[in-house]
Amino acid sequence: MLYERVLVTGANGLLGRELVGLLSRFSEYDVLATGRSATTRSEGSYGYMPMDITVRRDVQHALRDFEPTVVINCAAMTNVDRCETDRDACWKVNVEAVETLARQCGDAGARLIQLSTDFVFNGLNGPYDENARPDPVNFYGKSKQAAENAARRAGFEKWTIARTVLVYGTGSHTDRSDFVLWLVDRLSSGQSVQVVTDQWRTPTCVADLARGIERIVRRQRGGIFHLSGEKWMSMYDFARMIADVFDLDSTLIRPVDVSTFRQTADRPAKTGFIILKAQTELDYRPRPVRETLRKIRVRLGLP
Ligand SMILES: NC(=O)c1ccc[n+]([C@@H]2O[C@H](COP(=O)([O-])OP(=O)(O)OC[C@H]3O[C@@H](n4cnc5c(N)ncnc54)[C@H](OP(=O)(O)O)[C@@H]3O)[C@@H](O)[C@H]2O)c1
Repeated sequence: MLYERVLVTGANGLLGRELVGLLSRFSEYDVLATGRSATTRSEGSYGYMPMDITVRRDVQHALRDFEPTVVINCAAMTNVDRCETDRDACWKVNVEAVETLARQCGDAGARLIQLSTDFVFNGLNGPYDENARPDPVNFYGKSKQAAENAARRAGFEKWTIARTVLVYGTGSHTDRSDFVLWLVDRLSSGQSVQVVTDQWRTPTCVADLARGIERIVRRQRGGIFHLSGEKWMSMYDFARMIADVFDLDSTLIRPVDVSTFRQTADRPAKTGFIILKAQTELDYRPRPVRETLRKIRVRLGLP
């Protein structure tokens, strides 16, 4: 494999941190992490510079100075309800900034790996493979579909779209919450929660996702890849599994259907991914959900 110079955006997010930590452990990658804040706390040996992906000049400078061979765009507005209400801000980060990144990657001859989501699908007939037709039900999904198109249409062949689903698995850094941490927190303090039985996903451990993306870089693969966990389950079943692994009271988890909730943005009902392509072409091997949850329990230092 050639020596790669990898620029990661959104490096302080859930995925960005894990990815920077993983890539910087390989001597064949020179990693530049970028994020909105002045500093970063990812583990490992890498460079860091503040970069807002909506500021074209900053992106230009970073690409010109670092000369990456690969740019992995983990930066996004990911709060689905906020995307629905603050559409201009969402479009600016999730779409326009990707257009800029794609254009500049094209000029520099760098591969752009654009992160995307199961929310590009309508959830009527999941789980989905890479050939399924996007049909988003909310503005976040629309913006991510437009971002995929921006990456694809940028006029160069080196684009990769890595879609993922319901990411969990904060390890040593617990300031970014996720479904697992939220649930553990609530159940540990004896609070009851309502969890939907009619939304189905293939939950994804962030460490597995980062490994899948590393394989894309290593194998220089283009096109669309679905990178998620393998097990298709309802959110309710996922919640019960979490309670079981963390020895928490699962009777506090009340099964409800989605009509119970009033949410600003609609959510697709049954998404989740078929990951055969990634398994075949990338040798992507996500671990069983139960095993990843046990690891998180240990990393959180819980007895
Ligand atoms: N998490 C999931 O369940 C999930 C599921 C499907 C797809 N995805 C996709 O996976 C990717 C990574 O998601 P994630 O879970 O890591 O999200 P995250 O934790 O919300 O991280 C996103 C990061 O993007 C940064 N960001 C936002 N606007 C920016 C800007 N203008 N310039 C530079 N950085 C900016 C945020 O910075 P601040 O820290 O300053 O806010 C944050 O660190 C996204 O493309 C998301 O759509 C995630």
